[in-house]
Amino acid sequence: MIVNYNYLNQEFSNPNEIIGEWKKLIKSTDFTLGKYVNKFEYKFSKFIGSKYCVSTNNGTDALILCLKALNIQPGDEIITVVNTFYATVGAIVSVGAVPVFCDCDDRYQIDIDDVKRKITKKTKAIIPVHWGGASPDMYKIMKIAKLNKIKVIEDACMGIGASLKGKSPGTFGDISAFSMHPLKSLNAMGDAGAVVTNNKKLYNWLIRYRNHGMINRDTISMWGVNNRMQPLQSIVGLWGLKKIKKVINIRNKNASYYDKKLKKLSKFIKVPRRIKGFKETFALYMVLCRDRNKLKKYLEKNKIEVKIHYPKALNNQPAFKKFNSKRNKHKFKNSDYQAKTLLTLPVHQFISRKQQDYLIQCMYKFYKKNEF
Ligand SMILES: Cc1ncc(COP(=O)(O)O)c(C=O)c1O
Repeated sequence: MIVNYNYLNQEFSNPNEIIGEWKKLIKSTDFTLGKYVNKFEYKFSKFIGSKYCVSTNNGTDALILCLKALNIQPGDEIITVVNTFYATVGAIVSVGAVPVFCDCDDRYQIDIDDVKRKITKKTKAIIPVHWGGASPDMYKIMKIAKLNKIKVIEDACMGIGASLKGKSPGTFGDISAFSMHPLKSLNAMGDAGAVVTNNKKLYNWLIRYRNHGMINRDTISMWGVNNRMQPLQSIVGLWGLKKIKKVINIRNKNASYYDKKLKKLSKFIKVPRRIKGFKETFALYMVLCRDRNKLKKYLEKNKIEVKIHYPKALNNQPAFKKFNSKRNKHKFKNSDYQAKTLLTLPVHQFISRKQQDYLIQCMYKFYKKNEF
């Protein structure tokens, strides 16, 4: 049996509806912003439960726009987590700010006690990451931010479709970034992203800045950039929004099944703590495994595709050396441990129960456990 990690062939196996809309777009020649982009922004903000949405080229641009909108300046310190995708930190560095890293907790989310320890007078914002499609306790983070008068930018790039006691990632902070990279829960056929906020002032600034600072075709009120989402991708995003709830529910069912079965291997596998009332997207289904590298090879030999997110936390990346200042000379015990033991299993909406059983069975065999 083959178990694939990548499901895009299946997802886009029948693209007729998308192509039908693309044909209409081609006829209209409305290739920059326009009707489809507006519609996507409207529907996306409704889905997230936020007042405003500004779509972008990708999630990285969305993060950069969030930082720019909050007027983050060179030298400002931004607290974030060390086990995130490169883009969270790349965005901070691209505006000249200084990333200050926190370790993660046993759920692979930013360690909130560490956030408290890292706040100084120079701290301008926290970027909590909804890592893997799970969420840190945003209620606690918002309390800390309020107390210290610090802004919060949510990196909700993996968080589309998650919820914390009914509230979506991206609705807690001052401003938030999302990604529709192909392997996200809501995906484009290429790159796409979005910023959401409830702050009208930030929205008005962003909508102009993202489009060259234009008031209209002949007048600019500031120097801006071109971060516009492609209408072709808005169409894919709109198509995806129609089925996102179903997708997240299937992923949750698949994840619960793994949780239940893998708990029986608790001597070898650690399933993360789940918080009641926090719904995850399972962008990544991650567990900590004894002999991770050998297990990965064994599964691959048995035609099961698994991943590691990531074998090196950011503190072990060559690029980190530049920031290995006093501010970042800390140990990142959990992130280091997780980088060595984490394994990401396919949990997508197209994996069958038979495939899941086969994968679990292989894990049982690897650890020489017969009971299944
Ligand atoms: C946590 C996180 N932040 C930022 C990004 C960047 O998004 P994009 O690839 O759309 O630029 C991603 C995804 O790739 C991500 O997973």
